[in-house]
Amino acid sequence: MTLLIKNARPYGEDAVDILVTDGVITEIGTGPTGAPDDTEILDADGHVLLPGLVDLHVHLREPGGEESETIESGSHAAALGGFTAVFAMPNTDPVQDTAVVVEHVRRRGAEIGLVDVHPVGAVTQGRKGSQLAELGTMASSAAQVRIFSDDGSCVDDPVIMRRALEYASALDVVIAQHAEDHRLTEGAQAHEGATAARLGLAGWPATAEETIVARDCALAREAGAALHVCHVSSLHTIAVLRAAKAQGVRVSAEVTPHHLLLTDGRLAGYDPVNKVNPPLRTGADTQAMREALAEGVIDVVATDHAPHAHQYKDTEWAVARPGMLGLQTSLSVVIHTMVEPGLLDWHGVARVMSERPAEIGNLPDQGRPIAVGEPANLCLVDPDAQWTVRGTALAGPSANTPYEGMRLPGAVVATVLRGRITARDGKVVA
Ligand code: DOR
Ligand code: ZN
Repeated sequence: MTLLIKNARPYGEDAVDILVTDGVITEIGTGPTGAPDDTEILDADGHVLLPGLVDLHVHLREPGGEESETIESGSHAAALGGFTAVFAMPNTDPVQDTAVVVEHVRRRGAEIGLVDVHPVGAVTQGRKGSQLAELGTMASSAAQVRIFSDDGSCVDDPVIMRRALEYASALDVVIAQHAEDHRLTEGAQAHEGATAARLGLAGWPATAEETIVARDCALAREAGAALHVCHVSSLHTIAVLRAAKAQGVRVSAEVTPHHLLLTDGRLAGYDPVNKVNPPLRTGADTQAMREALAEGVIDVVATDHAPHAHQYKDTEWAVARPGMLGLQTSLSVVIHTMVEPGLLDWHGVARVMSERPAEIGNLPDQGRPIAVGEPANLCLVDPDAQWTVRGTALAGPSANTPYEGMRLPGAVVATVLRGRITARDGKVVA
């Protein structure tokens, strides 16, 4: 199987033709010589070519939440968004806390074949926080789990967290923490600050994130383990991460597209589409997120793609579920918040949306350079395109995008997984 990508600009640089043979890049140049007659042609029209995007944090809802998303619909969203690998969080029903469940998720992803679906295993049984799940069994299962998280909930108990990190060190896996001191966020409905006070919503203090991250960095240092901090939202957390990294702690961190762009100023209308955990914070926080991502204190962008069917979202603020769609809008939001202001170039986008996520998730065939001999996991982007977001036009049964009606820059023209086109011109290629 041969694919010829004509007139593509890797990382925005000079245009080249790229020949892909059996899933591997075999020639890069002008007018490759080795293309057989039945070669499939992808005319890239001078667009920007990036390595396929890798998302460390998505919720695919299967098993148990199929009214909101399935592994199939989430795979569609991923391919359309430029992704070639995603990590599926374990807050499913049943929870992804045994080899049986993680193997099911991995197998279902492979059957669909649009994106590599890597299940994240739960840290604790049932994500209840009291007893460790069988991390080693999940790691050595056919699902080859490399990241463990109780995401949706924080691993609160420092004794459990310490033990999880010790196992993680021995197994060479990562613990991804949803950093939220639940005692400090009881009843919380919005970022604790002026907006929440005015709206009469109970506050989620930024210190509930910062204190857990500080504690976990100390525990990770002692255990010699790899800690990953999910969805950083507070500028104070950045100072903790910077200090821990300077000490050599094995800590990485992600920021979501919505925490790069949106603030709690959007809460005035009490529209639950803006409800998310951690909550939207202030303009000072979004600005600090952008700078930390440019600097590398925050390593990656992860979507926290969190589909919720309308019955869970179109309800009053207090009972609506937290979470936002992200897979099909993330690259555009990163272009808008990071590329347009000059904080990242295309190499930088590749770093935070593909290379570093693949390193953290331990995926040797993802996030690779666009070079001869490398696997052809690719994402072709038209940087000059503009599009208007419509939730109902996005893949899957949920429409909870916070960007409804917004015009965003940059469109994914094609996604290539191991030499096979999985999405093209906004349509999935089955
Ligand atoms: O907003 C969120 N939604 N935050 C989480 O931690 C979980 C997620 C979900 O599963 O919907
Ligand atoms: Zn979370």
